[in-house]
Amino acid sequence: MTETATPAAAAGTIAIGGDLSVNRLGFGSMRLTGKGIWGPPADHDECIRVLRRAVELGVDFIDTADSYGPYVAEELIREALHPYDGVVIATKAGLLRTGPDEWVPLGNPSYLRQEVEMSLRRLGVERIDLLQLHRVDPNYPLADQVGELATMKDEGKIRHVGLSEVSVEQLRAAQEVTPIVSVQNLFNLTNRSAEPVLNEAEATGIAFIPWFPLAAGPLAATEGGPLSSLFADHDATPSQLALAWLLRRSPVMLPIPGTSRVDHLEVNVAAAGIELTDAEFEAIDNLTL
Ligand SMILES: NC(=O)c1ccc[n+]([C@@H]2O[C@H](COP(=O)([O-])OP(=O)(O)OC[C@H]3O[C@@H](n4cnc5c(N)ncnc54)[C@H](OP(=O)(O)O)[C@@H]3O)[C@@H](O)[C@H]2O)c1
Repeated sequence: MTETATPAAAAGTIAIGGDLSVNRLGFGSMRLTGKGIWGPPADHDECIRVLRRAVELGVDFIDTADSYGPYVAEELIREALHPYDGVVIATKAGLLRTGPDEWVPLGNPSYLRQEVEMSLRRLGVERIDLLQLHRVDPNYPLADQVGELATMKDEGKIRHVGLSEVSVEQLRAAQEVTPIVSVQNLFNLTNRSAEPVLNEAEATGIAFIPWFPLAAGPLAATEGGPLSSLFADHDATPSQLALAWLLRRSPVMLPIPGTSRVDHLEVNVAAAGIELTDAEFEAIDNLTL
């Protein structure tokens, strides 16, 4: 493992949209909220410390969404990091929140516009670096949803457009409307169903941002988890192995592990410095999970 002041840099970089170069280990802010991703977090000050420590460690890509809280994660990011100073804040629009753990897609173009406008205001920026359509709403044409974001890009309010939870077909259809620079789908060692989308992202040179990189916890377990049996043989924790496997899996992979704790953050970011040998990568890749 490489020890440096900015360990996230050890993961190398990826240029999102060709012009936003970020370290390939980012941070996901969904966990900086209350139970059910609803309301404020239990420990506000620790969440502020997590965000500032992430940047100190070299993390310069932070994933968020209007719907986390809702609004709570974006507000914390602004409080902790504004004016951002080279840190890319990637947000999303397209999911209504009707209560704790309730997520309802809404792709009405007017609603998407409203939420982008509100994210601009909350984050305190004139342009959002990466705006991801959180879900494709089957009740509206894909071209209208992506088209509204493309229009806001033309207006200078969005720099790049990304997608979340899409199929290869939807990704290709959206690419016909406007350049899509990233796709964010569920992907981790225990759930690789998005592999065709990852392969498409790699083939077309766009970023693939795997959400639930730690399967929301189990892959970080030191006892009873899928990687805990390897724990004794490696100078790395299970969460680090899960993240190192992702980083090694593809050069377009940009993991965004989430946590509300500084100690977990430090462990996760250190994964950027773990270089798996071919044999180690294969061993993890072939685990029966
Ligand atoms: N596009 C989408 O639809 C979508 C959906 C879900 C998530 N996301 C994004 O993806 C990001 C990552 O997903 P996620 O946060 O849900 O899941 P995750 O990164 O797989 O796991 C986060 C969970 O694991 C725990 N954890 C993290 N590091 C740990 C460590 N070193 N040791 C022990 N436990 C650890 C955290 O608890 P502690 O807080 O206690 O550390 C948290 O409960 C989110 O933050 C969000 O930005 C996107």
